[in-house]
Order: sequence, then structure tokens, then C-alpha cells
Amino acid sequence: MQVAHRIRFVPNSPTLAITARAKQMVAEGKDVISLSIGEPDFGTPPHIIEAAKKALDAGATRYTAAAGIIELRKAVANQIRADYGIDNITAEHVIISSGAKHSLYNAMMALLNPGDEVIIPAPYWVSYPVIVTLASGIPVFVPTTLEERFILTPEKLRAAITRRTRLLILNNPSNPTGSVYNKKELKALLEVVLDYPNIMVIADDIYRKLIYGNGKFASIASFGEEARKRCIIIDGVSKAYAMTGWRIGFSIARRQITKAMAHIQSHTTSNPAAVSQMAALEALTGDQNPVEEMRQEFSNRRNNVIRLLDKLDSMEMHQPRGAFYVLPRISKLLGKITPSGELLRTDMDFATYLLERSHVAVVPGTPFGAPSHIRLSYALSMEKLEQAINRITEAVLDLRDPGV
Ligand SMILES: Cc1ncc(COP(=O)(O)O)c(C=O)c1O
Repeated sequence: MQVAHRIRFVPNSPTLAITARAKQMVAEGKDVISLSIGEPDFGTPPHIIEAAKKALDAGATRYTAAAGIIELRKAVANQIRADYGIDNITAEHVIISSGAKHSLYNAMMALLNPGDEVIIPAPYWVSYPVIVTLASGIPVFVPTTLEERFILTPEKLRAAITRRTRLLILNNPSNPTGSVYNKKELKALLEVVLDYPNIMVIADDIYRKLIYGNGKFASIASFGEEARKRCIIIDGVSKAYAMTGWRIGFSIARRQITKAMAHIQSHTTSNPAAVSQMAALEALTGDQNPVEEMRQEFSNRRNNVIRLLDKLDSMEMHQPRGAFYVLPRISKLLGKITPSGELLRTDMDFATYLLERSHVAVVPGTPFGAPSHIRLSYALSMEKLEQAINRITEAVLDLRDPGV
């Protein structure tokens, strides 16, 4: 059967093979530890669940306004005003969608014409290029390196801009690198963007509440009125409030763009689930202590993971400052031979080796635009993390150089 052309440009995920194999091993009773998780391992805080139950009893079972209930749109606007220091954000700038991924899709559909270029700093979250492509845009990758802390520089940004550039996607803190941009770095990027009236910025700030050490969240949208108008902020409750399954994301953009996005949403999904919106309202307006408790726990895990991985000279990494991922470079391990005599050529080979030998699932870097890296998530208990890293350490020590 023929499927539409657009599907041909959606790459098959090479990580699916690893995930499938890991699942098969679990089904066979093997003790697999997965460091490939992209969601907090905590439950949704009980007060949020309670609010959802009450909302259901009170009849939150019907359609709502397509762009979301006004109370939640107002709550998002209030939080963004407070956290970003932007004054004139109102509910009219906000759309509630079925997850941040959905908000991103609405934004690309509203902004891109066929052939428009979208600058994506690499390493990047795997869904960006796919969403851009589905919306008829062309992803333009700009590589960043470990030595640069995976931070896009203004020089690289300027060099990537063409007459067709329409969008820059900035993910801060970043999945998969854990990098966090500081104010100075963001301002320098904004100055380049402001030289080009046609370029907008998608600020995917979904991990903004998960920042560790003495780092502070800053946004490219926070440098005054012109910056705000050029940015579409993407946020949501999935990561900060451990609510991935509720599917609630937000976009904050100037009115004209918000209107276009709301129009698209109204003819695709309509409103996000009414009960989830009520839960998100409680998340934003209720007790914020659970967010801080989860952040603290992630912070402790990050410190521990870095301390343990640092002992392995063959894995090079920078100190991630946000989200819950580490992206070690493993180029020193490529070219080595496994105990069963196989040559490790790529990050995919190394991930397969870890799974088969140590029963640890990690994600190879290539699908994130980070060949010769692997992504580890620390969204699991300290005990499991320690076990997993001990296993990785043993597997690495078992490798030998060719001809030895
Ligand atoms: C960078 C980034 N943006 C957006 C999302 C999507 O979040 P949601 O679950 O709210 O759709 C994710 C989820 O993994 C992500 O890592």
C-alpha cells in the first residue's frame, strides 16, 4: 500500500531496535536496567491527582474551548510573567495543548512554508527534525561540541542563516546534553536573530525547572518587548510536575501566531483532555514544594552519576546543569574489541554491547545528532543508577585494543 510522501522523510529510529531488544530481554527474565528513560520516575504529586478526581466528579468530562480553559491559560500567563520577568503576557498569548510536543507541532505548522529552513543546534531532541519535516520545513543542523559545552555560539548561528531561514529552535536546558545557556550566551544569540526580521525563535523551555548547582534559568524571550515578540515559548507540566501521561503542554507567543496555532489545534485535536487541564491548573497554582523536592533528588543523582562516570577516563563529558541526561563522548572506546571479538565501530555498536553484556540500556547519540556519544538518563533511583554505572564500568574495562 502507498503511504504519503511526507512519511518517507521520517527516519526510522535506530534506537527502536535497542528498546525492542531490551524489552525482549526483560520478558526473558533478565535484569535489565534502563538508562534510556525520558520521563521523571516520580509519581504525579498526590494533590494534583486529588484535584483531577474532584474535577471528574464535578463534570470535567466535556469539550472545553479548543485553546484550553481560561483559568489555566491565565495561570500559565501568570507563571510566565513571574518566572521570565515579562510584563505583558496574558491568557490571549497562551494555548494549552496535548503535551509540549503538540505545542511544537502547532508552532511549526503555523510558521513554516514549504522549503523554509529551521536551524537546529546539534545535539538535538530527536523529534525536532521530524516535526520540522512534517510541517514542510527543512532542518538545518548546526553542530556544537563537548568542548563548547554544546552551546550554540552567535558566530555559528550567523553562518547558518540564509534567505530561507525562518526559525531557530533553542532547547534550554537541553535534551540530550543537559546544557544550560546563561544570560550572556542567550543575549548574544538574540542579537544575531534581531538582525533578521523574518526569523523567529522557538524557546523549548520544558526542562526549565530542572536546573542544578548555582545555575539559574534564563530565557532568550526575557530581553524586552522585541525579544518576546520574536519568541514562541514552549513549556508544560510533563517534566517539572512528573505529569508525562496527562499530556498537557503550553505555548506562549504573540497574539497573531497564537491565533494561527489555536486555529490549527481546533481542527486537529480540539482541546486537550478536560480533566488533564484541571490537573495542570492545580499543578501550577497549588503547592510547589514537590517540584523542588524532585529537583533536589535529580540534583543528588546528577552529582553521583558524574562522580562515578568521571572515574572512566574513556568517557569524556561536561557537567550537565539541567534536565536529567548526561551525554558522554565515547570516541576513545570506538575501535576497541569486545571479549567476544567484535569491533566497536559506532555508538550503536557500543549501546548494543552494553545491553548484551551488562544488561544496561542506553541510547546511542547518532539519532540526536551526536555520533560517538551515548545518552544516559538519571531518572531512576540512586541504587539502580549506581548498579548500572558499575556494570558499564566493568563492560568498559573488559574491552581491549585490536591486536592485543
Ligand atoms: C526537549 C523536549 N521538548 C519537548 C518534549 C515533549 O514533552 P511532552 O511530553 O510535554 O510532549 C520533550 C519530551 O521528551 C523534550 O525532551
